[in-house]
Amino acid sequence: MVSEIVENTTPILELTGISKRYPGVIALNDVSLSVDTGEIVALIGENGAGKSTLMKILGGAISRDSGTITIEGKPVEISSPREATALGIEFIHQELSVLDNLDVAANIFLRREPTRGGPLKLIDRRRLYSEADALLKKLGLDLKSQTPLGRLSIAQQQLVEIARAVSTGARIVIMDEPTSSLSLTETRTLLEIIKDLKAHHVSIIYISHRLHEVEEIADRAVVLRDGRNAGSLQRSEINRDRMVRMMVGRDLKELFTTSKRIPAENGNRTWFTVDRLRTQRYPNQSLSFSVARGEVLGIAGLVGSGRSEMARTIFGVDEAVEAKVTLNGKAIDFTDPRDAINHGVYLVPEDRRGCGLVVDFNVRENISLPHLETYSSAKIINSRKETKAAIAACKSINIKTPSPEMRAANLSGGNQQKVVLARWLSFSPKVMIFDEPTRGIDVGAKAEIYALIRKLADDGVSVIVISSEMEEVLGISDRIAVMHEGRITGFLNRDQFSEEAVMHLATGAAG
Ligand SMILES: Nc1ncnc2c1ncn2[C@@H]1O[C@H](COP(=O)(O)OP(=O)(O)OP(=O)(O)O)[C@@H](O)[C@H]1O
Ligand SMILES: [Mg+2]
Repeated sequence: MVSEIVENTTPILELTGISKRYPGVIALNDVSLSVDTGEIVALIGENGAGKSTLMKILGGAISRDSGTITIEGKPVEISSPREATALGIEFIHQELSVLDNLDVAANIFLRREPTRGGPLKLIDRRRLYSEADALLKKLGLDLKSQTPLGRLSIAQQQLVEIARAVSTGARIVIMDEPTSSLSLTETRTLLEIIKDLKAHHVSIIYISHRLHEVEEIADRAVVLRDGRNAGSLQRSEINRDRMVRMMVGRDLKELFTTSKRIPAENGNRTWFTVDRLRTQRYPNQSLSFSVARGEVLGIAGLVGSGRSEMARTIFGVDEAVEAKVTLNGKAIDFTDPRDAINHGVYLVPEDRRGCGLVVDFNVRENISLPHLETYSSAKIINSRKETKAAIAACKSINIKTPSPEMRAANLSGGNQQKVVLARWLSFSPKVMIFDEPTRGIDVGAKAEIYALIRKLADDGVSVIVISSEMEEVLGISDRIAVMHEGRITGFLNRDQFSEEAVMHLATGAAG
């Protein structure tokens, strides 16, 4: 090869032979990855494949056991996030790392605040806010720089983290499932931001389980399987089937299980009804809907449309302004989640860290958590029973863990989500509400979770699924209710399902 050519093609970043071992797990085994200037490389693979681990090594958050990292051909050591930043590497983490006691502007410019002249280096607040507002506007984000982070939704917090990362002038931006809690429009905004970064020669490493996003933006897809390189696809070769085959190592059966569809036709829609529900967030709007036995009602809408608040209010986590809920003709009053659970109504929440998973507990404890009574006799927890149930649950949705005794904190993101699901699926519910059930979950496990949801419905449960993923909401629902700013703008029956119809209602147009 001619040396000139070699020089021109030196990748901006090269990871070679990276290995990382944890007790009982080889997270990475001789993995390599190279990225060119202005290239968007998608890093894909099943839950636990090693994607986040590889990126944490690059980001200086954890150390590697072996392997080399070069930037523009020069070997580098990255032993802290600060060193990564100094090398022009920015990392948007899978789990949020924003500070909720600070406001939006302070989070964006953390440790880079504009200062006034003078020896004290005081923060120039006026400039801080005006620069933050200008940046938010440029990125097309509908956020105010003075809002405390704690008041924002998870999606909005994620957008702040994205704004921070792209504003640092980094050469390489790592995004670990940046869209997992974003919905339709926010995701579009982010994809546009990414294209713009590329146009400015920034390199992007993009991790996502949403394969259509990869199809849309990636120049190359690099696939990890069980901690090893499983192959890569050039832009022209990227399509869903090829990615899935490489990730899973086999062809996948159908993503969605078709319904036996007993529901609506039987006129038993009044099984679970919510009548004139008013939430704290939208006290002037009221919501009414009902779900039949055996029916899956999808709830679509943009972030902030009030879907999660609705679910939390029905379940009794949030206090209702007004609500009339009936199950099988009997009015029930949920002032506490315990009432809901006693009536067989369950909510699988969206925020797995906030109200789902106890990261300091192990997998077994997490799965048996809400129904300890079932496993305890005379207040002594029967851990053999618990272990058996946990192993069965791990198997049923394929939770990747060396043992049920593993601390939940050490599981990969998607596997943590599966633990939360496993817990609730082991009940015998009458009404099951899922809020973003497959966030961060890989395609193989998604198919399994969709099948489980369908099975619940076929067993006569009324299922409500809140989902921001278009493909999911269209694929899994028998009927879709679309929300906008606290109210339902329309219902769609299966023969009316289309992306356009959902978007139309989600943006507030009348049905
Ligand atoms: N601190 C840790 N201690 C023990 N095992 C760990 C630790 N961190 C990660 N692992 C294990 O390493 C493997 C790879 O995890 P990683 O988080 O990189 O997966 P991932 O590809 O990002 O998955 P996901 O799509 O679910 O986010 C998993 O089996 C995980 O349980
Ligand atoms: Mg991960």
